[in-house]
Amino acid sequence: MEKIYKRHLITSALPYANGPIHLGHLAGVYVPSDIYTRYLRLKGVEVIHVCGSDEHGVPITLKARNEGLSPQDIVDRYHAINKKAFKDFGISFDIYSRTSSSIHYETASEFFKKLYDEGKFIEKTTEQYFDTEANSFLADRYITGTCPHCNNDSAYGDQCEQCGTSLSPTELINPTSTLSGSKPVLRETRHWYLPLDQYEPWLKKWILEEHKEWKPNVYGQCKSWIDQGLNPRAVSRDLDWGVPVPVENAEGKVLYVWFDAPIGYISATKELTGDWEIYWKNEDTRMVHFIGKDNIVFHCIIFPTMLKAEGTYILPDNVPANEFLNLENDKISTSRNWAVWLHEYLEDFPGKQDVLRYVLCANAPENKDNDFTWKDFQNRNNNELVAILGNFVNRTLVLTNNYYDGKVPAAGGLNDFDKKALAEIKNITGTVERSLENFRFREAVKSAMDLARLGNKYLADSEPWKLIKTDPARVKTIINISVQITANITILCEPFLPFSMKKLRGFLNLEEMDWSLLGNEKLVGEGHLIGKAELLFEKIDDDQIEQQLEKLHKTKKTQEDTMNIAMQKDEITFEEFGKMDIRTATILEAEKVPKTKKLIKMLVDTGIDRRTIISGIAEHYEPAELPGKKVCVLVNLAPRKIKGIESQGMILLSENTDGSLYFIEPGKDAHNGAEVN
Ligand code: 2FM
Ligand code: ZN
Repeated sequence: MEKIYKRHLITSALPYANGPIHLGHLAGVYVPSDIYTRYLRLKGVEVIHVCGSDEHGVPITLKARNEGLSPQDIVDRYHAINKKAFKDFGISFDIYSRTSSSIHYETASEFFKKLYDEGKFIEKTTEQYFDTEANSFLADRYITGTCPHCNNDSAYGDQCEQCGTSLSPTELINPTSTLSGSKPVLRETRHWYLPLDQYEPWLKKWILEEHKEWKPNVYGQCKSWIDQGLNPRAVSRDLDWGVPVPVENAEGKVLYVWFDAPIGYISATKELTGDWEIYWKNEDTRMVHFIGKDNIVFHCIIFPTMLKAEGTYILPDNVPANEFLNLENDKISTSRNWAVWLHEYLEDFPGKQDVLRYVLCANAPENKDNDFTWKDFQNRNNNELVAILGNFVNRTLVLTNNYYDGKVPAAGGLNDFDKKALAEIKNITGTVERSLENFRFREAVKSAMDLARLGNKYLADSEPWKLIKTDPARVKTIINISVQITANITILCEPFLPFSMKKLRGFLNLEEMDWSLLGNEKLVGEGHLIGKAELLFEKIDDDQIEQQLEKLHKTKKTQEDTMNIAMQKDEITFEEFGKMDIRTATILEAEKVPKTKKLIKMLVDTGIDRRTIISGIAEHYEPAELPGKKVCVLVNLAPRKIKGIESQGMILLSENTDGSLYFIEPGKDAHNGAEVN
């Protein structure tokens, strides 16, 4: 039996306040969460929707350092920009709070303190790199060095991007601090860890058995984390920006950003209402987290474990995470400025919030990554919003005004055709509801548009403009029904297109109505006076689209702008080069190395022999596209074990600074085993 809840608490991921909001954020998190919340409100459900800025974390301190400002300056700037942009775009948060607020500091500190006092953390002293010039411990990303596995000399302290191995900073050869360029030294430091391993049996039961209904992408990621075995996670850091660790002898230590950020949902609720506990500590509340896929582990495993350990809070009932949105067939990237920024969209397309809301919902990356293109934006506006919804509504308004001076006529006897059309309103409503309840927003908005399609078909088939002379009584019925369909549209489309539905209610001279009235055949009474017809949506022309494309390409940072071409390495002799035995070869077989993200194991014909080589290319190539590929192989590289498999050589690749990888490919006539000099 499905549980009946008394109220809902909807959270949307707190965006980092180190940059503006872009279309990817909107499509992944905020458009769906807003649609869902508006739907619940229309249903009369008690609901609050909380969000705010995530204002801690190393990237914020780094940005501040680069700009010569304080971290507070940076977060103040983006908090203001993003709060306004969300509001102007119609994301109807009940509160947009921030994690640098005093209420958040108190809430996060208390939370930590309670777990600390109850002995829920493990305390460990480890050695970590310290930059004596910058006088600071170094976060993993601020240390680079040579990867012990593949010799890549710009591996990070947490991972080598070339071979895909996860690293710890102490494994790096020749570590360098990116803060000062100096060689860091190891120093002992003490931190607090959340022992996720102790909660593994509980997590297994709670997620893998009791939440099989979670979206497959979410459930799958949780399962793979749990199956790999959970380890204690440090929840504090040596940094000077963040919520100070609230215990004695913890100077210079702050809460890890992923420990404090989700507590931000609690502090936002506290800031909103004195009655916050009813949302967080009452089993009659249903909590739903809307997030992007990179946040899954934090919202499904770590935060719930924190809540469970604390013991007095409820847990999320669902976490509908989306995949990523690409832009014009390329990954959205802040550093390359490949993005459409919300605040700029709002300036370039005033009054067209709903067009973007519609396109992002209709094309949401629900089950796989998806692409936003300006052409699709134009097509969906012109061919769907204008041609289907706008057209139906306009015809209804114009006919009512022309035939009856805007006074809604009474319906006469209904024939089967009318009855069928009216019954269809209920069917469509049911379909939209089911889709929304299951977080299938693309499907939901498509079905909502079906009501306008129904209206168009009803008018086209009944042809009132032909009957007005011969059968005026029949026309009254047709127009009455068209007005009823239009009034139903104002409710059904409200969660998706709130600005346009407000406008439409204005045209129709109607108040906002709640969801339970959907399907009602007499929403608008006989004699009700509607306003003059105005256009609900306008066509977007090619010029506007070209301007956007031009802007996008013009402001895109070229690769040279963003790339740091690596310095030339130390000179070597001809003999040293001659020691390398590089051969042309062909990949015969390829498969992913299980439980790794980046590694592919290949069987390669080197002309000398057939051998196994492992390479960190799984994020760039599918195993299926590799057999038959000609490559160059360094064959006399000493074999080394990667994930327990011996890799016998290295396939040569070139890597752009944006992370894209290319094989060094010999011509197609090259024989296996030919020497490369
Ligand atoms: O990925 C992000 O943008 C994070 N700032 C999301 C935080 S969500 C929550 F935990 F606050
Ligand atoms: Zn490596």
